[in-house]
Amino acid sequence: MKTILIADDDQAIRRTLELHLSEEGYAVLTAANGRDAVEMALQEEVDLMLLDLRLTGMDGFEVLGSIKERRPALPVVMVTAYDDMQTAIKAIRLGAIDHLGKPVDLDHLDEVIEKIFEMRDLSRNGISFFDSFELPFEQNMMVGRSRAMKEIYKTIGAVADSGATVLIQGESGTGKEMVARALHFNSQFRNRPFIAVACSALAPTILESELFGHEKGAFTGAYRTKPGKFELAQGGTLFLDEISETSPEIQVKLLRFLQEREFERVGGIETIKADVRVVAATNKNLSAMVASGEFRKDLYYRLKVVTIDLPPLRERKEDILLLVRFLLEKMRHELGKGVEIVPRETMDRIQEHSWPGNVRELENTLRRAVLLSPGNVLLPESLHLEEGGEGERLPLMIKPLQEVEREHIENILTFAGNEKKRAAKILGISRPTLDRRIREYGLER
Ligand SMILES: Nc1ncnc2c1ncn2[C@@H]1O[C@H](COP(=O)(O)OP(=O)(O)OP(=O)(O)O)[C@@H](O)[C@H]1O
Ligand SMILES: [Mg+2]
Repeated sequence: MKTILIADDDQAIRRTLELHLSEEGYAVLTAANGRDAVEMALQEEVDLMLLDLRLTGMDGFEVLGSIKERRPALPVVMVTAYDDMQTAIKAIRLGAIDHLGKPVDLDHLDEVIEKIFEMRDLSRNGISFFDSFELPFEQNMMVGRSRAMKEIYKTIGAVADSGATVLIQGESGTGKEMVARALHFNSQFRNRPFIAVACSALAPTILESELFGHEKGAFTGAYRTKPGKFELAQGGTLFLDEISETSPEIQVKLLRFLQEREFERVGGIETIKADVRVVAATNKNLSAMVASGEFRKDLYYRLKVVTIDLPPLRERKEDILLLVRFLLEKMRHELGKGVEIVPRETMDRIQEHSWPGNVRELENTLRRAVLLSPGNVLLPESLHLEEGGEGERLPLMIKPLQEVEREHIENILTFAGNEKKRAAKILGISRPTLDRRIREYGLER
């Protein structure tokens, strides 16, 4: 039997809750002040605690703090008459798993308690990162031990120092920019600049002057001579992201740079030499663009001296577990909120998803899920994964039956063109029953 500890200094409330929870089949302990509450929470076999904010002796936040310090895993639900956002936020930040307003709605209380126990059972059968997490966190670390990723690490190691031009290809979110950085920071040029330019973000003429600089008076608004990224990256790496988006004019200038290592600023006559390693990336199929005449063939061949192809995440699912661990650790640093347990069900959902947005999508999904998950358990429903259509998925929408019924009736009414007789027939209920449901659920149209 599960034991619930009620800490409240109001005897009437203690009684009411005690009676109700015993009827629901829980063993109940009660404490009337803060000191007793802490003592019992630490010494008795308690599975869950309901904690009043206002307590004699110590206030509820203090009690919560000292319990969380010594029994971090005990789920504590704060109960307060101040059902405002600030107290709720503070309670959750201090480690409470949920927050209820007074007077307590007993049905809602039951739901909250059930959900907490359900979550605990899920996590028993999950992967705990709390004691097994060994991966040291580093901002720019690439993780993944699939064969494809190992090949990529080897290529990076082999070509980093050479200064050879590298073309990185891969779907969006596969880690192209990470590879570009890894190439730079593992090379002999690592103490020189690494400059990234998103070619798609700028209009062609602006991009040209960004890359190659301009002379004073080259165009309206060019009040002074400005060096471009090629000059600024001197001795280091220039990362040209989304290279497919460059205009024909820029493609010519890039080709010349890769051939002769020289260029002129916009509006300039002086030829400038720069010693810069070029790394380019694309999520488009450049060879197809060459075939269709959208991208210069000669430039393509100059860029692909070395190519690195990043496989989509769905083709290296064996990396997912490691990525999840790493990214959750990253979230802990980034958000100051971590999850320790990923239930088996959550992990299964993550493994089954096809991740069209690759690692970036995984990262964004986890960030949102961490923020939405109460306590330290990553709940499957907080992932909000929408997979296109079919595939038998577990019914993970945790919803009351009533809500499902309401939605179903609403759908059938729409389907039946709001003809109640027909809708009742489809639903297999009488017309008066349908009318009653429509009233109850506020479905009148
Ligand atoms: N192997 C990996 N290990 C850890 N994090 C990764 C890995 N691959 C990608 N990421 C993370 O995923 C996100 C997307 O990576 P990145 O920006 O390098 O991808 P991209 O291919 O350049 O994407 P886009 O085409 O959308 O610009 C980043 O936050 C990055 O830190
Ligand atoms: Mg990118």
